Amino acid sequence: MKKRGRQADPVTRRQGTRSLACALSMLSCLLMGGCAGVQSALDPAGPQAARISGLWWFMFWLSAVVFVAVLGATLLAVWRGRAQRPADEAEAMRPELQPEPERERRMTSVILVAGGLTIVALFTILVLDFVTGRALTSLSAAPRIAIDMTGKQWWWDVRYADPSPSQIATLANEIHIPVGVPVQIKLRSNDVIHSFWVPNLHGKKDMIPGYLNVTWLQADRPGLYRGQCAEFCGHQHAHMAFTVVAEPFEQFNAWLENQRRPAIPPATPEQQRGQQVFLTSPCVMCHTIRGTPAGSRYGPDLTHVASRQAIAAGRLANVRDHLAKWITNSQEIKPGNRMPPVPLNNDDLQALLSYLESLK
Ligand code: CUA
Repeated sequence: MKKRGRQADPVTRRQGTRSLACALSMLSCLLMGGCAGVQSALDPAGPQAARISGLWWFMFWLSAVVFVAVLGATLLAVWRGRAQRPADEAEAMRPELQPEPERERRMTSVILVAGGLTIVALFTILVLDFVTGRALTSLSAAPRIAIDMTGKQWWWDVRYADPSPSQIATLANEIHIPVGVPVQIKLRSNDVIHSFWVPNLHGKKDMIPGYLNVTWLQADRPGLYRGQCAEFCGHQHAHMAFTVVAEPFEQFNAWLENQRRPAIPPATPEQQRGQQVFLTSPCVMCHTIRGTPAGSRYGPDLTHVASRQAIAAGRLANVRDHLAKWITNSQEIKPGNRMPPVPLNNDDLQALLSYLESLK
């Protein structure tokens, strides 16, 4: 009875195989699914990230092969050791003072081959690492577009450089780049060390106080990518993110043209009141709105704040409700950030929100 139960009929066996295949494919879907997304070094959207990801996968598969080989050799050694153990206990305990020459020779060649393969594997990784590093810097040419980015606790100050000062666009926590064009990013810091990282486009580059670092980004497909500070820089390090929008060149040009312009004047009485609230409240002490008397560079430039995807360095989506919460008590949302709570009565707050929302 028992034996018959063990010999599964062909249908049951086929079902078992299918379940195993299904489980394996689900597992690989889950694993690979984790690789895609707006902040993933394994979902490259540009030539540099593709190089890095290629090197990563090579090292992953090489390590997997080494792991399986070592595991296999260990299991084989255990199995052969057991098979060769003498039946006589006394014989088994006797120290082997006379090694067999044939076995000795075999062991030596196995160790030599394993050592040789290890050196070849490490050398291959070294060479590929060098080649990848060279390829990553090959974009460095005369830049058509250069962006100055300064890391601050805990947000990103952005300036699109231009020989004519009136054409410099300043904004925060968001950059736009044209698809297929290498863009130079100059990295600085005002306080502590931060690190610029857009995993889908390139590797990390530190932003060091008093030192200029330069990196390049190129996106090969349009999309929205998430950048993240990659160097611990204090309490809100995890909430120091930015958005990269890669778009066709015409769209990028239109966007940059708009960012260069001063703020749109308030169009309704509500927005006019909002502007007055802004100019007579603590907001004006830290922020710039170009085209108005507000010109402080301590906090983010708000000239076109409504055109951005997020506020508070990626912490919140840029919607009215979030703006209201951020203005009245940002410390609740991002404790330790430099913006103090701004107490406003509801009418003033609503007017201010209407004004800020008009700053496209
Ligand atoms: Cu800035 Cu971490």
